Amino acid sequence: MSATHATVAPSDIQPVAVKPRFRDNAWMDATTYDALYARSIDGPDTFWREQSQRLHWRQPPTQIRDIRWDKNDLHIRWFADGQLNAAENCIDRHLSAHADRVALYWEPDTPGEARVITYAALHQQVCKLANVLKHLGVRKGDRVTIYLPMIPEAVFAMLACARIGAIHSVVFGGFSPEAVAGRIADCGSSLVITADAGLRGGREIPLKANVDAALARPEAKAASKVLVVQHTGGAVDWHDGRDLWYHDLMATASEQCEPAVMNAEDPLFILYTSGSTGKPKGVLHTTGGYLTYASLTHQMVFDYHPGDIYWCTADVGWITGHTYLVYGPLANGATCVMSEGLPNWPDAARLGQIIDKFKVNTLYTAPTAIRALMAAGDGPLAQSRRDSLKLLATAGEPINPAAWHWFHDSVGHGGSAVVDTWWQTETGGVMITPLPGAHATKPGAAMRPFFGIRPALVDNDGTLIDGPGEGNLVILDSWPAQARTLWGDHQRFIDTYFTTFPGTYCSGDGARRDADGDYWITGRVDDVINVSGHRMGTAEIESALVSHPAVAEAAVVGYPHEIKGQGIYVYVSLTCDHSPSDELYAELRQWVRREIGAIATPDLIHWAPGLPKTRSGKIMRRILRKIAANEHDSLGDVSTLAEPAVVPQLVETRMNR
Ligand code: WTA
Repeated sequence: MSATHATVAPSDIQPVAVKPRFRDNAWMDATTYDALYARSIDGPDTFWREQSQRLHWRQPPTQIRDIRWDKNDLHIRWFADGQLNAAENCIDRHLSAHADRVALYWEPDTPGEARVITYAALHQQVCKLANVLKHLGVRKGDRVTIYLPMIPEAVFAMLACARIGAIHSVVFGGFSPEAVAGRIADCGSSLVITADAGLRGGREIPLKANVDAALARPEAKAASKVLVVQHTGGAVDWHDGRDLWYHDLMATASEQCEPAVMNAEDPLFILYTSGSTGKPKGVLHTTGGYLTYASLTHQMVFDYHPGDIYWCTADVGWITGHTYLVYGPLANGATCVMSEGLPNWPDAARLGQIIDKFKVNTLYTAPTAIRALMAAGDGPLAQSRRDSLKLLATAGEPINPAAWHWFHDSVGHGGSAVVDTWWQTETGGVMITPLPGAHATKPGAAMRPFFGIRPALVDNDGTLIDGPGEGNLVILDSWPAQARTLWGDHQRFIDTYFTTFPGTYCSGDGARRDADGDYWITGRVDDVINVSGHRMGTAEIESALVSHPAVAEAAVVGYPHEIKGQGIYVYVSLTCDHSPSDELYAELRQWVRREIGAIATPDLIHWAPGLPKTRSGKIMRRILRKIAANEHDSLGDVSTLAEPAVVPQLVETRMNR
């Protein structure tokens, strides 16, 4: 096992006690957590039957679990005979008591007036859009690609799909036309919902033009309609017969739309994520189990109480945006803040200003955003009070203790709990986390399993590690929000997650368990890197690079980066008719950006005359990672390489910029 990005777990890290404000009021204290956790493990059927009752079922489930993690016959079914509708759970059932409660406060990229959307207004918009979708021929089970900026219409679109039983596939607005086309092709979407353009940090993202380019590609031919939200008002090309303005169709759509009655195991959405090999994987989540878990974790992890104002900064294009900006909080009738832009734009004071503007109680963000803000120092914080805060949470990547402390001490004045939540697109919801009323927290540790979650560590041979130790993080039993399959490729689902350590779910992460039984995530053990909390497959970047005529061979690894957590480090061998130059350097960065998206842009390119390989031709990434990290002293044995001489050469030319 080799973790790519290790956090420290020094024994001198002092736990930070449960905050006084959580002692009396929190849903969970330590004793209740222990008892409930034990019950959730000892009697999962009873526990999850009870928890499912937090949703509104058209037909309550009598079957709770039907799980088989056998590579020859793998299925995962929760609440299989139950029937419900996710949108009805997120909207309609709150209307009788809370129609006027704010569901979404939307903060524009440029500081300005917020849009305020009550549950009644959300209902109206979602019903209308659901009717528009039906009018466009979208039926239960059809796939709809959503490629929108962070605007309320993205939430309407997801819930409108859910309302009629269509399966949404949200594609992050930062992805390139090529990436959009690939995702449309993989799931066969007939409709794309987009906007003229998006805004982020003052920059325009030409979403409609990207969709035009995506649909010009033969593989995306299934998409015959494009619904366009007018957001920036900028000019766009128009394809008559294919493109339709959102506002035109919404203007005449009916506000009545009965929710489709769905089976618990009917798909709710597909979300593409990067793997260690091959093309992105369409992770499939279904309805009943996902929503039960989203709702329960949102309530407990964030200690959500009615009336709390909750801000999740994640983009809807990622799983955090799905589960903790949309489905979890809305299922709980929460008031959410949705911000279009970046928390440090126009400057580092913005985060605090938004907190004060909406009196945010709970902030859920990524360590990379915290590090970026921290780099600007405490000065900008003086422009806000942030005294409404009670809980600060992070996800997506390891948080280093320095960032944890700055978040806790400076952003939260030392009075707010900080929870570091570990989970994945495939897990659907938070898996390992402290609960604010129950656990003292250790800066940098994800701490304890959530209810029903059985984490374990195994060595590379699959042997369980008892007590304190470090190893591969696996999960021993299913939980309701577990992904059910990869769209169109169940075998890949089995191969990726259930064959490395048979009988367990293999997370692809490494972790350490300390003497108190608390978990510390050390980072990916595979060829996935985590850049600014975004999961990137090194293989995807490599294949983009080798499609450039100058590139003979490429190897991509992560290296420690102060703000991004990991940066993208690229070793490139050029074909014999090309030689290194500043122009080619810039061109290759641009090339990857165009092929995948800005988030995949290499940070450093190392011109490598050769790459270290085993005699059978396998690139030794372990060595490349060490060189990239400037850890030349611990390269290990290189004598078995096909050409050991390339190693000192690469060390010598390590680009140290
Ligand atoms: C990493 C994001 C350390 C991990 C919710 C995982 C974390 C990948 C944490 C999933 C955390 C997520 N501490 N690492 N608290 N949370 N990760 O699918 O490597 O975008 O496998 O889901 O992010 O990324 P994904």
